[in-house]
Amino acid sequence: MTTDSPSPEQPARKKMTVPAFQHKKAQGTPIVMLTAYDYPTALALDHAGIDAILVGDSLAMVVLGLENTLAVNMEMMLHHCRAVARGARAALLIGDMPFLSYQISTEEAVRNAGRFLQEGGMDAVKLEGGRERLAAVRAIVQAGIPVMGHLGLTPQAVHQLGGFRPQGKSAAAARRLLEDALLLEEAGCFSLVLESVPAPLAEYISRRLQIPVIGIGAGAGCDGQVLVTHDMLGLFDRFTPRFVKRYADLRASMEQAFASYIEEVRKRAFPAAEHSLPMDEEEWRAFLEGLQA
Ligand code: KIV
Repeated sequence: MTTDSPSPEQPARKKMTVPAFQHKKAQGTPIVMLTAYDYPTALALDHAGIDAILVGDSLAMVVLGLENTLAVNMEMMLHHCRAVARGARAALLIGDMPFLSYQISTEEAVRNAGRFLQEGGMDAVKLEGGRERLAAVRAIVQAGIPVMGHLGLTPQAVHQLGGFRPQGKSAAAARRLLEDALLLEEAGCFSLVLESVPAPLAEYISRRLQIPVIGIGAGAGCDGQVLVTHDMLGLFDRFTPRFVKRYADLRASMEQAFASYIEEVRKRAFPAAEHSLPMDEEEWRAFLEGLQA
């Protein structure tokens, strides 16, 4: 359900479906995806014409200020999914399954994936991992829920990986990554995210798979690209991976606006008359007279 109406200069876009998303690969049209965690960002992305919005568990780091993505849970994710779903009417909406929501049993994986659609207003889910996640992927897909895979740097495995490090750099690791990608496709994933892997490997995997491969730090040879919105807007500066391009410096703009507000309030320059509510003179007089009675 959405509450926003399209702006007059933009005709309403058709809703992006999973088949339409996949068709873009066949057409050779790059797929564009970004993350969102709130209503205004979803609204802006949708109006800008984005193909897909990921409500990523990067929420933990870029919105909640946590060290990694491990502490977000289903309730937190659903809360933010609902806000995004209210703002976006055309983009394909993908909810990121949080740590331990799909690893414990296939039953829990299906139930939690279903909650993203039923309670979060999402169209699909994303989960991390390769061969060890095939049973979960198959069960979720069998329940009629589209699944996007995620290989390479999988942040929920940060401790196993020894940090946020690039993956698939050796011949053996590259081979394993390709095998995992093929297995996920066979298990029914409709698309795959490849994060922080060498560009030639990502391009090779994109060509081998029928399903669209969306890269982040994976070079230009993928079928599409995704970035964390807070990274590309310059809103998260704890660290910026080398693969991020900053399209804006909103943190600086925000600080400038906050400083102006602070200064104007302290100087009594804000609020001005145009920001204040006048009162009917007669009512005001009656009010004052009433106080004297
Ligand atoms: O959580 C997230 O934002 C992601 C993207 C980096 C793909 O998984």
